[in-house]
Amino acid sequence: MKRIAIFASGTGSNAKVLIEYFESHRNAQVTLLVCNKAEAGAIKIAHEHGVESLLISKEEFFSNNSIVEKLQERGIDFIVLAGFLWLIPPAIVASFPNRIVNIHPALLPKFGGKGMYGKKVHEAVIFGKEKESGITIHFVNEKFDEGNHIAQFICPVFSDDTPESLAKRVLELEHKHFALVVDGLLR
Ligand code: GRF
Repeated sequence: MKRIAIFASGTGSNAKVLIEYFESHRNAQVTLLVCNKAEAGAIKIAHEHGVESLLISKEEFFSNNSIVEKLQERGIDFIVLAGFLWLIPPAIVASFPNRIVNIHPALLPKFGGKGMYGKKVHEAVIFGKEKESGITIHFVNEKFDEGNHIAQFICPVFSDDTPESLAKRVLELEHKHFALVVDGLLR
């Protein structure tokens, strides 16, 4: 059974879907949540599901190898970023080659990069008068949102969309596809 660590510092709705998916698909299990915000919903979700959570500081994350050691001590095989905003340090990328994936709430390579997260992404899509948006699931390298793409799923953008209505449609796509794509990679 593969051991998955989710890195999430937001609401944690994708973390919830992933944890629950692998509760019933036992080829893998989410065994760790890494988070940088004590008040994140993701921590509460991990707790409710009996998943260990690790609260990390910026210093610890960026200044030494201790996070890699903690992942290795726990036998982590695969890392899933789901609402984690810090750049992944080279030591982690090197220790988990092609075993770190991220989900981005737009069709990369457009609307990605540093600072493009949450509402800002959907505002930019609407401002750009895009007819379609969606999600990109991609491998993680040392740059924001630039790793090789694994899958994209598309939804329409309507002329009367607000960032909120578009965000809701995109999040539904995430919940529908993310766990299945991760499962496919693990098999
Ligand atoms: C998602 O929109 C995902 O695309 C992005 O962060 C958000 C996380 O949402 N990387 P949630 O915390 O899983 O609800």
